[in-house]
Amino acid sequence: MKYAAPRGTKDILPDEAPLWQAIERACRETFGLFNYREIRTPVFESTEVFSRSIGDSTDIVSKEMYTFADRKGRSLTLRPEATASVVRAALENNLLSTDNLLKVYYLGPMFRYERPQAGRQRQFHQAGVEAFGSADPSLDAETVQLSVKLFENLGLKELAVDLNSVGCPECQPVFREALKKYFAAHLAELCDDCRQRFAANPLRLLDCKEARCQKYIEQAPAMIDHLDPECQAHFAKVRGWLDGLKVKYRVNDRLVRGLDYYTRTVFEVVSKQLGAQNAVCGGGRYDNLVKQFGGKSVPAIGFAVGLERLAEIMGKSKVKSQKSKVDLFIAVLGEQAKKVAFDLMSQARDLGLSADTDFLGRSLSAQLKAADRLGAGYVYIIGDDELAKRSAALKNMKTAEQKEVPFAELFTQFAGECGKGCSCEE
Ligand code: HAM
Repeated sequence: MKYAAPRGTKDILPDEAPLWQAIERACRETFGLFNYREIRTPVFESTEVFSRSIGDSTDIVSKEMYTFADRKGRSLTLRPEATASVVRAALENNLLSTDNLLKVYYLGPMFRYERPQAGRQRQFHQAGVEAFGSADPSLDAETVQLSVKLFENLGLKELAVDLNSVGCPECQPVFREALKKYFAAHLAELCDDCRQRFAANPLRLLDCKEARCQKYIEQAPAMIDHLDPECQAHFAKVRGWLDGLKVKYRVNDRLVRGLDYYTRTVFEVVSKQLGAQNAVCGGGRYDNLVKQFGGKSVPAIGFAVGLERLAEIMGKSKVKSQKSKVDLFIAVLGEQAKKVAFDLMSQARDLGLSADTDFLGRSLSAQLKAADRLGAGYVYIIGDDELAKRSAALKNMKTAEQKEVPFAELFTQFAGECGKGCSCEE
């Protein structure tokens, strides 16, 4: 019987892993520069954690959640996103207060039962940040700046920031009514999903990607024309801060996000190098979510980056990531040589050098070819003669230079050769 990875999932293979590691490193470093600390939450939660926060009428909750009953009949869900999990964890562990900012970040897999296509998987990965405790517009601007900084640090340029405000519970109902009034006249022309959205959550109508709905969406009323004075002032200040920080963005008054918890600022970072699913990052403010979870009123803002989409753009942009190499390959002929090799490999690894040997009983030339494929920095060749004189040839694979080095001096020579203590990257 042949097995395949479940539909909508992908293996990240050893050749691809260095790119992922470089992305993860850049995320951790950049988030750290903005004083975010890591939080790790479980990959599953009580179903209500997601259904009550993301919104019953959203695509995520209504059709994309991996929900199952455990052996005691409790309803659990694989996390479709991490914001709700982080709110749950922050409240449960008393991390939130109104006189202190909590800044946390996460990296990890998320699960959504979506129709797989380019840029859309059922298990995908996100890196995200959440900041709790301030409604100040400068924090909105810093959050957008952080997402831009992350892409810059990864060497990516062809990206654009879309910015909008979705208002607050005071002004949203007025906008919803305006939308309903407008779309009521076009209901017959809209797609089936949109007709459902019209009844359940008219804001979602603006998010439809169907060609037949586009011309009606383009003409629809805009939230930013319906903001109450406080939300209007907040949005103006966010823009002012962004201008001051020289962060480029464009106001996209059609931008609504696929989750219901947002208030005021929302944003996405989009790439021309991606297809229909062009958002590589999405986020926004969610000032009422903590309260909705039963906590105090603690405003918050965050974003999440889709790592598969980021890896795709980086692959297309040919942004370099270091290929992992083995520093030292010990070619061996015979059991006795292998024992010496094991001893030398232990010493190498204690010094922080990566080392490997032959486990297939291959000929010397096959072992040298294997070392070449591994990108080995040096090869040390041990056969019967070498065992007798306790000394062997050390070959620099880059220059093809070879010199005789006694077993006992291998690592002093080695450090001298590459000039480090050593990781051999030159
Ligand atoms: P989201 O827009 O649903 O927001 O997801 C963020 C990013 O995750 C998207 O821009 C996209 O790059 C990636 N993504 C989403 N779904 C998939 C998928 N099926 N396959 C591949 N990539 C995908 C959130 O999840 C919010 N929790 C973000 C946030 C944090 N808002 C505030 N704080």
